Amino acid sequence: MRAAVPPVRIGIIGAGLMGRELAVAIGRWVALVDHPVRPVVTGVADPEPAARGWFDRLGTVRISTDDWRRLADDPEIDLLYLAVPHDMHEQIYVGAAEAGKDFLGEKPFGIDHAAAERIAEAVRRSGVFVRVSSELPFFPGALAAWNLARSGQLGEILEVRSGLSHSSDLNRAKPINWKRRAATCGRIGVMGDLGMHVAHLPLRLGWEPASVYAMLDDVVTERPGPDGVPVRCDTWDNALLALRVAEPTRRDGRTFPMLWETKRIAPGQSNTWWFEALGMDGGVRFSTRTPTTVERFHVVDGEQVWETLQPGHRSVWPTVTGAIFEFGFLDTILQMWATFLADRAGALGDRFGTATIEEALAAHRVFDAALRSHETASAVSPR
Ligand SMILES: NC(=O)c1ccc[n+]([C@@H]2O[C@H](COP(=O)([O-])OP(=O)(O)OC[C@H]3O[C@@H](n4cnc5c(N)ncnc54)[C@H](O)[C@@H]3O)[C@@H](O)[C@H]2O)c1
Repeated sequence: MRAAVPPVRIGIIGAGLMGRELAVAIGRWVALVDHPVRPVVTGVADPEPAARGWFDRLGTVRISTDDWRRLADDPEIDLLYLAVPHDMHEQIYVGAAEAGKDFLGEKPFGIDHAAAERIAEAVRRSGVFVRVSSELPFFPGALAAWNLARSGQLGEILEVRSGLSHSSDLNRAKPINWKRRAATCGRIGVMGDLGMHVAHLPLRLGWEPASVYAMLDDVVTERPGPDGVPVRCDTWDNALLALRVAEPTRRDGRTFPMLWETKRIAPGQSNTWWFEALGMDGGVRFSTRTPTTVERFHVVDGEQVWETLQPGHRSVWPTVTGAIFEFGFLDTILQMWATFLADRAGALGDRFGTATIEEALAAHRVFDAALRSHETASAVSPR
């Protein structure tokens, strides 16, 4: 018989949409085969009683509080999930690090680049284990694309596109909330909301942009406030970033173009994430719109061939789910947490891991450069 694995007791700070998603993922933990960690949601902190109350159904929450510091300071909490509005990131992430608590921090990891640097510095000082949330690359098709791109089979890189588009803000009558205000979402707007998802795979492949040209669009400038009266909606809805990246095989300084697209107003899109990379010898493309397939380009006997592969249900950590069954958003959250907790336990091996602080900082440098590019209508260097 296997020895019982002691539980890792998780405190969730921010009991909204993403706090609930984590609770649901942990409820499915038994799907993972031979995972070294057994998480349990032990604490929840949120100023909204109704948001906290939802977690009563778990039957495992022992500490329910309106004060996040209670969870950060509690010795019976082993690690934290920080899923709060962007204007709260710095205070709570730094506070968690100073309290000596490991954590998974939601993106964008600080409301802006300066805040992200201060959080990173607090983490360095304290030595806690920290990763950044980005789950969409855990789709089997996305991982297949990543594996192909890093294998060298694409040859010299010609062009890369990565994006996340949804239509959540298409309805002008949708009331204002914290995600639609610069003061709470950040001046980077949609890039703070969706940008880390788009940056994660390219940055993991070493494709860090050397120059940024941005086209930012504020389409809906007013939304109904709590009393129905229109209030200013001062956040970028859509962002198109044209980037240049040093081509890794060339010694003459050639750069290749890369596009990062983040849109909250993309008619017809529900939550579409995609990644495409084209090289002289091969190519690959994956989109969550067609989640069961990934396309690969290569030349066979002089013929140019795009072929369709079906990667099945195989992500990073094996599960009891049949290999032919469909994979979805909730599976990505389960897989991201499986890698985060395995990594923390020193058991990840060479598997694809959760986004790092360095990747979050690199993404923030690009978003910061995008604001400067938009202001000056010119290409600028991230710094
Ligand atoms: N990874 C993803 O796919 C994904 C998707 C959506 C949002 N997010 C990120 O998750 C974070 C939270 O977003 P959300 O959609 O869950 O927002 P949300 O508005 O649904 O939930 C945020 C919760 O934080 C609570 N909160 C506010 N101040 C707090 C404080 N001082 N202490 C404790 N709780 C506090 C709010 O009451 C609310 O319940 C953001 O960083 C966002 O960018 C990630």
